[in-house]
Amino acid sequence: MRKGSVKDARAKNILCIGAGYVGGPSMAVLADRCRSKKVTVVDVNAAKIRAWKGSKLPIFEPGLDKIVKRTRGKNLFFSTDIPGEIERADMIFVCVNTPTKVFGYGEGYASDMQYVEKTARMILRHARPETIVVEKSTVPVRTAGPSNASSAPGRPRENRSKSCRIPNSWRRARPSGIWRNRIES
Ligand SMILES: NC(=O)c1ccc[n+]([C@@H]2O[C@H](COP(=O)([O-])OP(=O)(O)OC[C@H]3O[C@@H](n4cnc5c(N)ncnc54)[C@H](O)[C@@H]3O)[C@@H](O)[C@H]2O)c1
Repeated sequence: MRKGSVKDARAKNILCIGAGYVGGPSMAVLADRCRSKKVTVVDVNAAKIRAWKGSKLPIFEPGLDKIVKRTRGKNLFFSTDIPGEIERADMIFVCVNTPTKVFGYGEGYASDMQYVEKTARMILRHARPETIVVEKSTVPVRTAGPSNASSAPGRPRENRSKSCRIPNSWRRARPSGIWRNRIES
């Protein structure tokens, strides 16, 4: 096994893309329970990242502030450097929003996949070949196939074949999304 590969290191650097209601609290718990992991949460929304770094968190959950206080700056970090963090990540959780479409085909019931697609492109451009991708966003069945294919031209062939995607969205992961995402030290 190659030294420094994900299998060897058992995913030391965990990245979450999307610092919203799912990504922020899930990663705070993960960092708290798995102190040997470095957990980083990134978002395109700089104001949200500033809030996660500040004294008034952007999300209220009972006990969340205490968990963030215990872990932030130790093994929990927030950033807007999305390409840089993707490059450093061993495992990436995709927690971006998939709102219901408000126009076009599927209006009123289908998921708007534009944020997942943008994220997939970023991952395929910047991730290392061994990086494991966990789809935490609520996505339709078989999303992994098209999201790989849509971004494939920007990625070397050898990287495509080795990438690993794990669907883990809430509706598939009942009863507990957070706890199934825990990665034991
Ligand atoms: N909130 C819930 O209770 C809940 C429950 C089950 C499933 N989900 C699913 O989890 C996913 C996330 O939900 P949420 O409630 O956390 O959404 P949210 O809107 O609170 O957060 C999503 C975050 O992703 C960020 N984002 C969007 N595109 C990005 C990109 N390209 N790069 C980086 N960041 C980007 C947004 O700025 C936002 O901060 C959705 O698919 C949702 O359906 C949510």
